[in-house]
Amino acid sequence: MKVESSLISPLHIEENRKFYLESYGCQMNLYDSEIVTSILFDEGFSKTSDPGQADVILINTCSIREKAENTIRMRLAQFQSIKKIRPYIVIGVLGCMAELLKFRLLEEEQIVDLVVGPDGYRDIPSLIRQVKDGRKALNVAFSKSDTYADINPVRFIGNGVTAFVTITRGCDNMCTFCVVPFTRGRERSRDPHTIVNECNNLWKKGYKEVILLGQNVDSYLWYGGGLKKDFYKASEIQRKTSLDFADLLELVACALPKMRIRFSTSNPSDMSEKVLKVIVRYSNICKHIHLPVQSGSTRVLKRMNRRYTREQYIELIDKIRCLIPDCAISHDIIAGFCGETESDHHQTMSLMEYVHFDFGYMFAYSVRPGTPASKRLVDDVPDSTKKKRLQEIIDLQQKHSYEGKKKHLGKIQEVLIEGESKKSTLHWSGRNSQNAVVVFPKEYYKIGEFVTVNIVDCTSSTLIGKTTFNS
Ligand code: SAH
Ligand code: F3S
Repeated sequence: MKVESSLISPLHIEENRKFYLESYGCQMNLYDSEIVTSILFDEGFSKTSDPGQADVILINTCSIREKAENTIRMRLAQFQSIKKIRPYIVIGVLGCMAELLKFRLLEEEQIVDLVVGPDGYRDIPSLIRQVKDGRKALNVAFSKSDTYADINPVRFIGNGVTAFVTITRGCDNMCTFCVVPFTRGRERSRDPHTIVNECNNLWKKGYKEVILLGQNVDSYLWYGGGLKKDFYKASEIQRKTSLDFADLLELVACALPKMRIRFSTSNPSDMSEKVLKVIVRYSNICKHIHLPVQSGSTRVLKRMNRRYTREQYIELIDKIRCLIPDCAISHDIIAGFCGETESDHHQTMSLMEYVHFDFGYMFAYSVRPGTPASKRLVDDVPDSTKKKRLQEIIDLQQKHSYEGKKKHLGKIQEVLIEGESKKSTLHWSGRNSQNAVVVFPKEYYKIGEFVTVNIVDCTSSTLIGKTTFNS
């Protein structure tokens, strides 16, 4: 829904306005914050890192779990003191929490003036003017086609070496626990030429690695625009010239043969052999697949509407291992989903034992309003049981992460330097193709360089190396 943004005169512009922007949540949100920054720079705003100096304070929010929302509400409470001293400042909530709560956010958090969902960012300047005119402003409309493809994100996040590039927006999967389809709308793929252009621009600016982002990258499908679900309406020529994710990956890998390419997130029900073969063919595509499993029990996967069974997931793992033996595989797992029994939990643990994931992200299930699970299923696993199962999963992953790291010992690997090691100013920190963090002595190397490193030691989270020059 759009609120009177068209009534605002574009001439109503003030000079020297500063904005402060804070981001929470996933990589997609970080990318979106760079889009928002670009939009505000075009309007003549400048950026400040001090909310006390800002005319506009924006928080780009996440609502994937209840905890994320609580963090944001606490942050809003902290901004009260700034608003007391400078009552004319505009406070805006962007992103998934804005989309999910809509008007309620304006009612519940009196301090908030502006609520903008993930498809409304182009409208932020005019909505700010609306607030300046004394009204609250909101745009939570979904778009059928906008992927912000024409906007060049201002890269202020990260290390100047690695950058995110969005390839799809929204998600059509409807996993029953997940709020994303309700906060980010239907799935749209971005024009491949704009993706390659953006990667080219990044290369020219000195970036050495791109991470292609989508809620489900394997479902990328370009046929000339519009929603993924409308592909059946496409003309014959559009169908014949359409590009899937494997085609896109190949296009980017060929166009930028020296750029490292990563992608996230893969979905087990959509990942094709064609994609795996492209990964094998191009040395600049990193050997790492983030393949959330969520549960090792087919019964639970069915309740989650994940569209694959335990056996199909294992089959896919076997195929990856067969085609790309040195590929790292990581996961997302949810502990304590509705109806999960002790036996289901053990199946998750036994699947982990089978796969030996390199790393993973693990969560206790948290009901999200509006999701199919919140309407149809009972959140019947007690919190204490969720916590206990989650801890068992984390402990097992820790053991596997360490075992996995040990397999790198004695190997010589190419590492892209991202910055200084957190623990030592004398060491660089970078990543190998498998996405493992590697630290090694700085010597004469520089950030952004590819270095050949001999892996000599490890912890469960880090590889320790020596440059081949030194070993
Ligand atoms: N496809 C997405 C998934 C986004 S959500 C991607 O690109 O990563 C990230 C992870 O959060 C999910 O894979 C899932 O493991 C977890 N998650 C999502 N909803 C959740 C919920 N209601 N409770 C607990 N964890 C959840
Ligand atoms: Fe969420 Fe499932 Fe899409 S986890 S983002 S609905 S693939």
